[in-house]
Amino acid sequence: MSPHHRYDPMRNPLPFKIYEDLDPIPLSLDVPLTGVPALSAIATHVSPTPEGQVPDIAAITRILHFSAGITKKLRSVRGDMPFRAAACTGALYHIELYLVCGDLSGLDAGVHHFDPGESALRLLRKGDYRSALVDASGNEPAVANAPAILVYTDVFWRNAVKYQAREYRHAFWDSGTIIANTLATAAASILPAKVVTGFVDDSVNQLLSLDAQREVALALVPIGYAPEVITGAPPEIGPLELKTTPVSDFEVDFPAIREMHQASSLASRGEVVAWREELHANSVTATSVPLIPIEPQAPGALPTDPVETVITRRGSTREFSRDSVTFSELSTILERASHQIPADFLAPQGDALTDLYLIVNEVDGLRSGSYAYQRDGQTLELIREGEFRPEAGQLALGQALGADASVNLYFMAHLEPILNRLGNRGYRAAQLEASITAGRIYLAAYALGLGATGLTFYDDAVTDFFSPHAEGKSAMFLVAVGRRTRRR
Ligand SMILES: Cc1cc2nc3c(=O)[nH]c(=O)nc-3n(C[C@H](O)[C@H](O)[C@H](O)COP(=O)(O)O)c2cc1C
Repeated sequence: MSPHHRYDPMRNPLPFKIYEDLDPIPLSLDVPLTGVPALSAIATHVSPTPEGQVPDIAAITRILHFSAGITKKLRSVRGDMPFRAAACTGALYHIELYLVCGDLSGLDAGVHHFDPGESALRLLRKGDYRSALVDASGNEPAVANAPAILVYTDVFWRNAVKYQAREYRHAFWDSGTIIANTLATAAASILPAKVVTGFVDDSVNQLLSLDAQREVALALVPIGYAPEVITGAPPEIGPLELKTTPVSDFEVDFPAIREMHQASSLASRGEVVAWREELHANSVTATSVPLIPIEPQAPGALPTDPVETVITRRGSTREFSRDSVTFSELSTILERASHQIPADFLAPQGDALTDLYLIVNEVDGLRSGSYAYQRDGQTLELIREGEFRPEAGQLALGQALGADASVNLYFMAHLEPILNRLGNRGYRAAQLEASITAGRIYLAAYALGLGATGLTFYDDAVTDFFSPHAEGKSAMFLVAVGRRTRRR
């Protein structure tokens, strides 16, 4: 971090990408809601059916709006501040969404940009360009049969204005919380969806005509299933001369962001295919210590608030009350959020890349202390019993939210074997896996009437705190859960 960089919140970049000369294709938010309970949607995997599952404009609108749309506006000294469906560091909203689709009911084939400000699409390229993404993804099957593919990009400066080069991490944190919403809303719409992180970076950036010095593609999520595979050579893709509104009257370059991204980029189809072939199941760490089985609520007893209601209700908790949550609530969150993410970096039955560690401050029915969660057996391993509220606050950058929460959930990754197996791209995958699961934790907490917030943390101190158990692991994401202080 440069001590010379000054952050002035009054000079935040515009949180929207606006194509000035393109007409909006309005997306009516008057779409039917699925009514599917959030706690079911976050844990559901929809498989393709032989007859196909093709989204129409209503399903596309629902998915875009409940992923990255504006769900509320709050009064602030700077006027009405729009907040979005998913949590985002600093509320700076640096992740953009694009839609690449064939002809859908209510929407023509094209490469579109999603504008959450106006709830509209703008057509960047007319025609069916999906084969360009099939090619860039090395024929990833979910992309090859997708009627529609979402592309998530990161505009560096919009977050670097505050966080400098750390923005690169936030790119994955903040796209992950959005993707958690995408997966849940797609599942509620009975549409298959999968996170695809292996693709030729330049090809995807060129398709969207991004200035890759400032904005890059991070992930693809193919939506739906069409029985016919997309075939044919990718169309000719030239640069687009489209005017966008400048987001800021000043901009500082942080070359480390570009260098980190370049170091994990894939340059050819061959590289993408070879990268994906490296996938095989992780080894499971056997443990002989006593394990505590989690006790999730029975499926029939779960709250049934629909996914759309819960996403709209979600917000990052600003103050926790220090009241306890129950072991059953914590167990439900762990069980619901930990279902395997459909992703190209995970073998179908493979283990997750990240491990979940907990600091339990106040959970009825569970002794306070630090724990490791074993997803496979759905058990908690007590690492150290004790009252760790001060430590939890300290690790979370000295913020009271960490101390006051009932439980702090840390995602940790043993990066060395991940990088050995998946190359530098493994860093992107580990960050995304953590943030998508954390996004599900946000939704599970709010579905249960609890609060949650992402928090920043002191990396090395977190590893030390959970060591020797977490020796060699790096902290990826922190989400704190508890009861919200009721304000009048
Ligand atoms: C990865 C991540 C880290 C965050 N870190 C902090 C934090 O350290 N302190 C804090 O008060 N809020 C933190 N937040 C919450 C954001 O400030 C919040 O998401 C943003 O203001 C948007 O508001 P909303 O989540 O209520 O929609 C974090 C959110 C995310 C996703």
